[in-house]
Amino acid sequence: MREPRRENGGRLDMDREASFYENKSEYGGLYAALSAYGADGCYPYHMPGHKRSGQAGDMARYFDIDITEIDGFDDLHHASGILREAMAFANEMYGAEETYYLVNGSTCGVLAAVMTAAERGAELLIARNCHKSVYHAAILQELTLHYCCPPLLGEYDICDGVPAREIARLLERCPDCRAVVVTSPSYEGIVSDIRAIAEVVHARDKILIVDEAHGAHFGLDAGMPEGAVAQGADLVIHSLHKTLPSMTQTALLHVQGDRVDRGKLRAYLRMLQTSSPSYVMMASMDSCMRYVKRHGAARFALMRRQYEIFCQRTASCRYLRLGKMSDLSGRKHYLTDWDIGKLAIFVRHPSFGGRWLYDTLREDYHLQLEMAAGDYVLAIMSIMDEAEGWQRLADALVQIDDRIERESPCAVQSCQTASLKADERMEGGAPETAGPVAVMRAADAFFGGREEVPLAEAAGRTAADFVNLYPPGVPLLVPGEKIGGEAVAQMEEYLRMELCVQGVSADGKVAVVC
Ligand SMILES: Cc1ncc(COP(=O)(O)O)c(C=O)c1O
Repeated sequence: MREPRRENGGRLDMDREASFYENKSEYGGLYAALSAYGADGCYPYHMPGHKRSGQAGDMARYFDIDITEIDGFDDLHHASGILREAMAFANEMYGAEETYYLVNGSTCGVLAAVMTAAERGAELLIARNCHKSVYHAAILQELTLHYCCPPLLGEYDICDGVPAREIARLLERCPDCRAVVVTSPSYEGIVSDIRAIAEVVHARDKILIVDEAHGAHFGLDAGMPEGAVAQGADLVIHSLHKTLPSMTQTALLHVQGDRVDRGKLRAYLRMLQTSSPSYVMMASMDSCMRYVKRHGAARFALMRRQYEIFCQRTASCRYLRLGKMSDLSGRKHYLTDWDIGKLAIFVRHPSFGGRWLYDTLREDYHLQLEMAAGDYVLAIMSIMDEAEGWQRLADALVQIDDRIERESPCAVQSCQTASLKADERMEGGAPETAGPVAVMRAADAFFGGREEVPLAEAAGRTAADFVNLYPPGVPLLVPGEKIGGEAVAQMEEYLRMELCVQGVSADGKVAVVC
C-alpha cells in the first residue's frame, strides 16, 4: 500500500484512513470508504479521467465511487489495507486459507490456477466438459491434456457428475499429470462428488482445481450443497456475479493446503489481472459478501421454499419437465446434487425443442432465459429472486404445456436409449474411447499451420481452433482433437436449430490443421 496521504502541510492523515476502516455500513467497508471519499470534496488529480463526474443522471452514481489505487485505498496486487480486509471477509465466508478478489471474472482465476498447478509443457487431466478458459490455459502453457468424459445423465441429454473412480483410473494411466480440473456444478447445475475426487487426487499427491464458477452460493447456507473448499479442493474459483448479488466480472479465487505454490499463483494473478482494478467492482464484492452474511439465511430459505412451490406447480406438465435430483432415484448416476438455482426444463415432444420454448417464453411471456439447447432451456435463479419471478415462470410453463396438449398431443418422448448407452459406457470399462480424442497438443494445433474447410468435409481432420456452443462455452471441438463424424453431425444440428455455434464461419467453414 502506498504511504497514507499527506495533507495540511504534510501531516499524515492516519486518522482519516483509520475512520474509513471503522465506517462499515451494511454495504461493506470498501463501499463506505469510497462514498466518504466521494463526498469529502477532495479534488481528484488522478485516474480515471471522468474525475467522478463523467456523466449526468443515474450513471453519475457509478462514476462517483469509481477511483483507482490512491492513498488509503490499498493495492489489489499487494493488498495490505482495506482490500486485504475485504478479501479476508470473503475468505471467512468460504473458510479457505486465502482468498483473492478477481476483477476479470472466473476466467482469469481459472487461467491463474491452471498455469500455477501445471508448468509449461506439463500434463493435465481435465473433465472434458470444462469451460473454454481451462483449454485457453492449456494453450498458453503448452500442456498435454488427458480427458475424463463424464457420462450422460440418465434420461437427460447433459453430463452427469465426474466419477471419482474414473479420475483414479485415468491418473493410474497418466501418472505424470500435475493436476486435475473439474467443473462443479456444471452450467446445468450438476454437482460432482468433490470430496471423493479430492481423495483420489490427493492420494497421488496431485493438485485438485475445482471450477465452481456457478457455485459461489454453495456452502453459504446449510440447505445448499457443500462447497468445494470444504470438501478439500486445493484451488477453487467462484464467479460471484453468476449466482450472487455482485457486479459482472467479479469473482473469487480460493487456495488452501501446501500443494500450491502461492507465490507463483500471486505472480500469475499480477500478470493476468488489470493493473487498474475497478473499485466499483471490488466494493460490489465486499457488499455482496456482507449482504449474504446479514440476509443469507432468510434469502436462501425463501429460495428453497420457492423452488418447492415451483416443482409442485409444474408437476402436472406432461411435455415440459424440470430436471431434478428427486427424479433420479433408482437410476445410476454420479452427481451428488442438482443445484436448485439452475432450472433445466426439458422438452419431451418430437415437434418442439429448447429453442422453441426459449423463444416462446421470451416473445409470448416476456421471460428471458439464460440459454436454449437442443431439447432444454436453462433458467438461473438466485437468492435475489422474489416469489413473483418463480411464479411467472411456473405459470408460463403450465400454460405452454396445456397449449401443446391441446394443439399437438402425442406420446411423451424419453431418452432412455441415451441413458442406457451412458451406463454401458461406464460399465464397459473403456469410457475414454467414447469422448473426443486429442491427437496433438492443443497449442501445437492452435499455433501451427491451418486452413479452412467446409464443416461437411471436416470429419477425419484435426481441429486447429475451438468450436463452442455459446453459452455455456464448453468446447464442442478443441484444437488438436480429431474431428469425428458425430461431432460434425452435432454441430450441423446446432446450426440448424439456430443456436450460437462459435468457430464456424458465416460460410460454414471450420479451421483444421494443414
Ligand atoms: C464453468 C465456467 N467456468 C468459468 C467461466 C468463466 O467465468 P467468467 O464469466 O466469470 O469469467 C464460465 C462462464 O460462463 C463457466 O461457465
